[in-house]
Amino acid sequence: MSAQRIEGKQISDAIRAEIAIETAKLAEQGIIPGLAVVLVGNDPASSVYVGSKAKACEQLGFYSEVHRLEEQSSQEDLLSLIDQLNKQSNIHGILVQLPLPKHIEEKAVIDAISVHKDVDGFHPVSVGNLVIGDDSLLPCTPAGVIEMIKRTGIEIAGKHAVVIGRSNIVGKPVAMLLLREHATVTICHSKTANMEEIAKTADILVVAIGKPKAIGASFVKPGAVVIDVGINRLPSGKLAGDVDYDDVLDTAGYITPVPGGVGPMTITMLMLNTLKAAKQVNRIGE
Ligand code: GUN
Repeated sequence: MSAQRIEGKQISDAIRAEIAIETAKLAEQGIIPGLAVVLVGNDPASSVYVGSKAKACEQLGFYSEVHRLEEQSSQEDLLSLIDQLNKQSNIHGILVQLPLPKHIEEKAVIDAISVHKDVDGFHPVSVGNLVIGDDSLLPCTPAGVIEMIKRTGIEIAGKHAVVIGRSNIVGKPVAMLLLREHATVTICHSKTANMEEIAKTADILVVAIGKPKAIGASFVKPGAVVIDVGINRLPSGKLAGDVDYDDVLDTAGYITPVPGGVGPMTITMLMLNTLKAAKQVNRIGE
């Protein structure tokens, strides 16, 4: 039997409709969520992402600012912009698009963003709060993964979740969120000795390694939930996930497509974080 597709686009549209309703309610109180997106340099993929974020703000009735800095801009210039955005009361969320040019230290930039405006959830204090289970702004892609699983009606508690990949942006935080949802969590990475064997014991398999079609049916337990976080451009120009979708389709119970799976959830969770930050600063819902 063929796996059921988890339609990220549909789930994302449903969440955006909820955000639009909440935003309209806030507007009645004179509060407009505001997001600042900062792009340094002119990487074409990053430029597309930044444009999509600004468009999402417009569609939902948020205020947005896009700051495009030249590739040669200094770290000092970027830090001074962040300082200004930290102080701006019409901005509730700040996102600096990664990767940054080599001469700028990523850590210094992430650390400079106010924790209250850290809608990426990358600040060490946000990461710490996530680990100890305190309220915080959650990293967007991992939060999107959990939301997709839950909204599909899949129980996480008690399941064995295997995460392939240990990046700070996806692998580590998604493992922490799955643990918070009471899964038993195993993290695999490039040095894991028997990855196929471990992956095959997963009820929920999350793959975030950035290698096209690297995970086939031999890694998947029959009936497992397979979440593919990868988006890779093939030489043909087509997009492919980290999972070999066609190969896995008859083994998995549920699978996310690429494109149209995890991808659409990420920007939606960014909007949700910006809304949450705007509510927190105005002490709404406390
Ligand atoms: N580049 C790729 N993914 C992300 C992300 O989630 N946030 C930021 N800021 N940059 C990225």
